[in-house]
Amino acid sequence: MFISFEGIDGSGKSTQIARLKRRLEDAGRRVVTVREPGGTPLSEHVRALLLDPALDIAPFAELLLFSAARAQLTERVIRPALGEGTIVIADRFFDSTGAYQGAGRAVAEPDWVRQFSERVTGGLVPDRTYWLDLPLAESIERRGHRSADRMEQAGADFFARVAEAYARFAQAEPTRFHQIDATLPPERIHTQIWTDLQSLKPS
Ligand code: TYD
Repeated sequence: MFISFEGIDGSGKSTQIARLKRRLEDAGRRVVTVREPGGTPLSEHVRALLLDPALDIAPFAELLLFSAARAQLTERVIRPALGEGTIVIADRFFDSTGAYQGAGRAVAEPDWVRQFSERVTGGLVPDRTYWLDLPLAESIERRGHRSADRMEQAGADFFARVAEAYARFAQAEPTRFHQIDATLPPERIHTQIWTDLQSLKPS
């Protein structure tokens, strides 16, 4: 089973991923967690480039770099783990590219970005994707005074387009892509996710 989490900075993805991992392990399942971009030596190098606030990266180059990091992670970590029956939980997957590069940067038509992304992963699509939907103002408040990385330096219009794209994904793929109110208490969010996962056959 392959689960991904999506949402803007401060939406609580890491808290939920840690909580879900523990619960699945308590239930006797093997779980691997990965974060994007990253998770392999190559992908971590690419991550450092992508988040460097001093580096100029053209929008299409950005799309390709995120995709390169994902191709490597999918091939070297995610597929082997799934092949052994391990549950994989990803902190972001190709929906981030659809939202940030496709909609946020407007690099190409949404359908093209989606088809390209499936090429990058060799057709691997998450069984479930949980979008922790947080208002932008709340995200900025939660971030506090921590300095912004290169992606976080994008303006409010950019993040509005990202949020709109996530909402479209939820409409287009309601079975896979679940919108969750990220302002709810963490334990309630976890319960929603856990309840939903029970409806999926373990694989
Ligand atoms: P990270 O520090 O992991 O942020 P977060 O905690 O919000 O996940 O940085 C990843 C950044 O890269 C984040 O701003 C989202 C962005 N991103 C894309 O723009 N496209 C992508 O395909 C992925 C995976 C991430």
